[in-house]
Amino acid sequence: MYSVLFKSPQLLVRGPAFSTSTMAQSAISRITVIGGGQMGSGIAQVAATHKHEVTLVDVSQEALDRGKSYMAKSLKRVAKKKFAEDETAQSQFVDEIMGRVSLSTKPQEAVSRADLVIEAIVENIKVKQDLFAQLSKAAPQHTILASNTSSLPIGKIAELLDEQRKQRFIGLHFFNPVPQMKLVEVVRTKEVDQDVVDSAVAWVKAIGKAPAVCKDTPGFIVNRLLLPYMMESIRLLERDVASAQDIDTAMKLGAGYPMGPFELCDYVGLDTIKFIVDGWHKDGEGLKGNPLFSSSRKLDELVKQGRLGVKSGKGFYDY
Ligand code: CAA
Ligand code: NAD
Repeated sequence: MYSVLFKSPQLLVRGPAFSTSTMAQSAISRITVIGGGQMGSGIAQVAATHKHEVTLVDVSQEALDRGKSYMAKSLKRVAKKKFAEDETAQSQFVDEIMGRVSLSTKPQEAVSRADLVIEAIVENIKVKQDLFAQLSKAAPQHTILASNTSSLPIGKIAELLDEQRKQRFIGLHFFNPVPQMKLVEVVRTKEVDQDVVDSAVAWVKAIGKAPAVCKDTPGFIVNRLLLPYMMESIRLLERDVASAQDIDTAMKLGAGYPMGPFELCDYVGLDTIKFIVDGWHKDGEGLKGNPLFSSSRKLDELVKQGRLGVKSGKGFYDY
């Protein structure tokens, strides 16, 4: 059923790396990533770096070309550090990894040989449900289906699937920027099989990341803690307690965070943050009506003006 077993090479980026000897083996070798935006392209890049055969799917050739250029840019950064003085080795490194990534606009064809499918498309429950209903007709029975959603219930994304598929459906939540952030939350639904959880954990280790297993509740671990922090920071600004710059400086120098909350909001995307808190405030399990997630005038205004953060060139800051 599964193809080749392999052992991953050592991490290519800085951080609390798993050494080669402690990395688990993974039976997963063929990956399909659906959605080639900032997250999907990062996931594809990391999987290809760790010798997987990867297919990246998006809605148009233009979107795929954008995803490919995100990957190339990020890999060049890694290559420059790895082969400082050797430009030939740098481009060989980039070309070899990019050579393991195929591009496709046909999701059903792209999953027909996949061991693992990771969805990283727009944060919309209906669009995600429809996509998985389509994919489940084409993917082999052994395929693990996974979503990288930030805020939607994993069980609900799988709602239209049959029982067998639900048992092989899981959350794999990566962090931005994927090549650099070490964590992947492995989110278990009520229906998922234990062997699927075990395979997902082994695969996360095999691509040099650290897994944290958790239940399917809103925000999993990180976002459940991070979103209240972001929203409270915006409320400090609204109350004119301090400027965005001073709040950022305070959290970087006083709490040791790598980015201040406004830098981080701009990095993640203000539309994404608004979508998450509005959704949870409206009907998040156990969070409905929770004032931590009530809307913010400042955030709403910025999103309305199209100031979405780094990706649109303006957010709390100008880029
Ligand atoms: N690809 C490859 N390497 C990258 C990279 C990328 N896209 N981005 C950064 N790096 C590397 C750099 O090359 C550099 O490597 P060296 O130190 O070895 O030279 C290193 O990361 C640091 O980068 P910089 O010097 O450019 O800048 P920095 O020190 O400020 O680090 C950062 C950048 C890693 C993004 C850091 O600021 C950080 O950790 N920020 C917090 C990010 C965070 O919290 N992410 C989670 C967001 S929440 C989320 O993702 C979940 C959700 O559902 C919304
Ligand atoms: P993005 O807008 O950068 O990329 C989404 C990509 O999906 C686009 O290229 C789009 O063309 C493509 N797409 C949309 N519908 C599609 C479909 N039906 N089939 C194929 N491709 C489709 O978004 P992103 O920031 O990469 O987020 C993607 C997912 O990852 C979301 O669920 C988001 O919540 C989650 N996430 C985001 C972050 C973050 O910091 N941005 C972090 C963790 C998780």
